[in-house]
Amino acid sequence: MSAPSPEIAVEDLVLADRVRIEDLVDREGLEELCRSFVTLFGIPVRIYSVEGALLADAASEHELCAYVNTLPQGRRACAATVSGVRSQDPGAGGDVARPCFTGAAYRVMAIQYEGRRVGRLIVGPFLPSDVSGPPASLLAVDPALDAERARALLQKVPRAKADTITRIAAHLKAALDLILFSGHKAHVTSQMHLASVRESYRQLEEKTAKLQEAFDRLRELDRLKSSFLATVSHELRTPLTSIIGYSEMLSQGLAGALSPEQQEFVGTIHDKGQQLLSLILGLLDLSKLESGTMRVRMSRIGIEPVLAQVVSTLTPTARKKGVELRMVVEGTLAEVKGDPERLRQVFINLVENALKFTPQAGAVTLRARMVEDAGDGDGEGLVLLSPTRTNLEVRVEDTGIGIPARERPRVFDAFYQVDSSSTREYGGTGLGLSIVKRLVDAHAGTVRIEDNAPQGTVFVVTLPPPAPTAPPEVRSPG
Ligand SMILES: Nc1ncnc2c1ncn2[C@@H]1O[C@H](COP(=O)(O)OP(=O)(O)OP(=O)(O)O)[C@@H](O)[C@H]1O
Ligand SMILES: [Mg+2]
Repeated sequence: MSAPSPEIAVEDLVLADRVRIEDLVDREGLEELCRSFVTLFGIPVRIYSVEGALLADAASEHELCAYVNTLPQGRRACAATVSGVRSQDPGAGGDVARPCFTGAAYRVMAIQYEGRRVGRLIVGPFLPSDVSGPPASLLAVDPALDAERARALLQKVPRAKADTITRIAAHLKAALDLILFSGHKAHVTSQMHLASVRESYRQLEEKTAKLQEAFDRLRELDRLKSSFLATVSHELRTPLTSIIGYSEMLSQGLAGALSPEQQEFVGTIHDKGQQLLSLILGLLDLSKLESGTMRVRMSRIGIEPVLAQVVSTLTPTARKKGVELRMVVEGTLAEVKGDPERLRQVFINLVENALKFTPQAGAVTLRARMVEDAGDGDGEGLVLLSPTRTNLEVRVEDTGIGIPARERPRVFDAFYQVDSSSTREYGGTGLGLSIVKRLVDAHAGTVRIEDNAPQGTVFVVTLPPPAPTAPPEVRSPG
């Protein structure tokens, strides 16, 4: 027994999942959000991941920074500020102000999602409201600094009160929260979907393995059954031949004259013995066909003598039943590749069935003709390309009880009979057609069932022509 399949809980998925901004929102969306804030408030905004990777940047370098960066010491001071701001932790309060030597300032804030820190927001540079002119740190940053120019550029830095920045940041964080929420929802849904697909796949794999196991076991059982049947049938045949032989001798009076009643009893022993023998021979054939040990000796043959022999063998049976049995050959028949003995067995079985299931005054016709077959061609264009083949078709037509369409595929199964009730009026064991099917397969032919309007059945056997230069061949079916 396998372990019960684990339940998938949404909470497990959500908690097991480390929320990262970059997994939930695409970069384009973040950039767009930052750009719209810069457009609205004129203050640069950047978003960083918890690990410190820049995710969105809608800031263009301010003129003051650009100027300071042209001076060697200014550039150094600027780089130190930038790296300081970038690595600044927003602290326990999640909001820290970070001044710049130019007098401008930055705010570094934590981005929270579901109580966890998922990134950082950097707003700035902006000019705090209490800064009126360039501080000493700016004026002293580089000897080459043009103080007037620096003052003018500083005035161009967007000015904002601390609480204005707080409000702007709150807006931005609220918008971000909304985006994160929908991104997270989609993420969780897809994770759940993935988990359930994985689970279904696992269950499917488990079932496939079990099915394969059952299939292997059945195949092994089938093989054992075939070899058991073969052995038992073989062992039964020898004593049965003796029973039949001795009953024949008894009925011929070789052991003394028999009274009429004794004669009748011996006759019954003989008939039942014959019935049993034909069943055993059928079983032996089937097991040989199943195990592939039945030899089918292929050669080029004419089918007419085979069919004529079948008709002459079964004419007495037909007469006894009052059913007309005839053979019709339409046109000239070409040779086929086949084993005459096995083909005789095929048509004996089919005609026997036809006679058995046709009531008195009915008719059974064995009809042979050549039919065109479009080969394997498929579709109009291909029909032109693939050469047509002429097959031999032998139809066994009867005017009997017919076979319902839904039963047709099953009558070729071993032991299957349409009416298998105990009150069944026809004899037999249900082996005939399964042998027929296998023998026809061994000839690369086909067998199908059609209606014989207005009543009865037609078994249609099709046999392919021999290959143009095919040498005689011995093959075994199965
Ligand atoms: N010509 C037919 N008309 C009506 N039913 C048929 C005909 N041929 C076969 N069947 C049906 O198909 C079943 C299977 O035929 P199959 O020849 O395999 O077995 P069977 O004739 O019953 O026994 P067996 O051939 O082993 O003596 C028959 O029992 C019958 O129900
Ligand atoms: Mg039969």
